[in-house]
Amino acid sequence: MTSTLIRGRTLSFRRAPESIDDNAAYSYESDGALLVENGLIKAAGAYGTVKAAAPEGVGEIDHRPHLIVPGFIDTHLHFPQMQVMASYAANLLEWLNTYTFPEECRFVESAHAERIAVRFFDEMARHGTTTATAYCSVHKTSADAFFAESLRRGTCMIAGKVMMDRNAPQGLLDTPQTSYDETRAVIADWHGKGRNHVAITPRFAITSTPEQMEVASALAREFPKLHVQTHLSENRDEIAYTCELYPEAKDYTDVYARYGLLGPKSLFGHCIHLSEREADAMGETGSVAVFCPTSNLFLGSGLFPLRALTRRQKPVRVSVASDIGGGTSYSMLKTLDEAYKILQLQGERLNPFESLYLMTRGNAEALSLADRIGTLEPGTDADLVVLNMAATPAMALRAEVVNSLADELFLLQTMGDDRAVVETYVAGRPAKSTLATH
Ligand code: GUN
Ligand code: FE
Repeated sequence: MTSTLIRGRTLSFRRAPESIDDNAAYSYESDGALLVENGLIKAAGAYGTVKAAAPEGVGEIDHRPHLIVPGFIDTHLHFPQMQVMASYAANLLEWLNTYTFPEECRFVESAHAERIAVRFFDEMARHGTTTATAYCSVHKTSADAFFAESLRRGTCMIAGKVMMDRNAPQGLLDTPQTSYDETRAVIADWHGKGRNHVAITPRFAITSTPEQMEVASALAREFPKLHVQTHLSENRDEIAYTCELYPEAKDYTDVYARYGLLGPKSLFGHCIHLSEREADAMGETGSVAVFCPTSNLFLGSGLFPLRALTRRQKPVRVSVASDIGGGTSYSMLKTLDEAYKILQLQGERLNPFESLYLMTRGNAEALSLADRIGTLEPGTDADLVVLNMAATPAMALRAEVVNSLADELFLLQTMGDDRAVVETYVAGRPAKSTLATH
């Protein structure tokens, strides 16, 4: 049995903070510690108390004065788009057709998929992200490469082989039958292996025929515990084209509803332009709307109406995500910095506690995984990130006048990125300092 005591200032959420003063929403220890044993958090609290409960001679890692929080969770990104980031396009559909689809074709080669998977997990560790919900490419090889690397790293990852059988280059198309067979094969090969979860992943309505949507529907019925992920209501042209392709549906959300794809394990990327009816359908089914701020700004998709979705009679569950490679940063700190600005433009506030809640416990709840990740609760997996608010000269200068936890979190979010991540722990093991190039 291997035990380690990790010391620092610790912060973890109990529930969503209702305001910037809602300090009952979190627990904070100014001299805290976590006892980590076999990948799990065994005890958490004040250093003296945790130390007293630890085995004699336990190894100690002292991160003071830095802040230890749960590992960041990213609920929507595309692993085959690392080399699509920063592609110059006018809008979503142009970006997909010009850059994204051709790039994803390369993932038919397992050597390429394996090389990018290594780089992907390196970036996750560098940026403090310990769990991601990922789209692979249409090729099973890409899912195999992704999950094999995740298994090696010991990460909790959710991912799926993308299903797409129209409106894309030939090299990126499956068929209803092969998408069924290969998704089943990915589930058999990887679901429950290590900390891997497989998601049923029809890319979006435009790239699936009704026959393939039937297959996604059948898979969701056959495997009701699996996550489902897709895209919804990101861009006005996308919405119009979807409604042309599915004339019998009331609206875009109804396309997915008609195939039984709404529900508490379903994650819908973007949801920027939903009607009241669509938001009601999302709220009633417990479906999750995934807010991807840097992507929405980069592709000019629109301003995610976070408050309008959550302040409803039947609130829509929301999560936050990078949407790499439409997104422009791997950093969840940068992602929430842009989220803050999107709310500012709508006359709304996003306080720094709520931001940190969203990238940790909030995202874990959206994934129905808060019993395993997203907090520092004893019994959960020891996925952690250690943050330094004075990581750069400019941050250090600003940090001189920080005098509250809220100020510190806001500084980290506004000026921080991977440089503010001192260490990332995956299942109790250092994952950043052990990279070849950290
Ligand atoms: N809609 C369908 N595919 C994609 C994708 O890869 N990225 C984004 N942002 N939207 C999509
Ligand atoms: Fe996406």
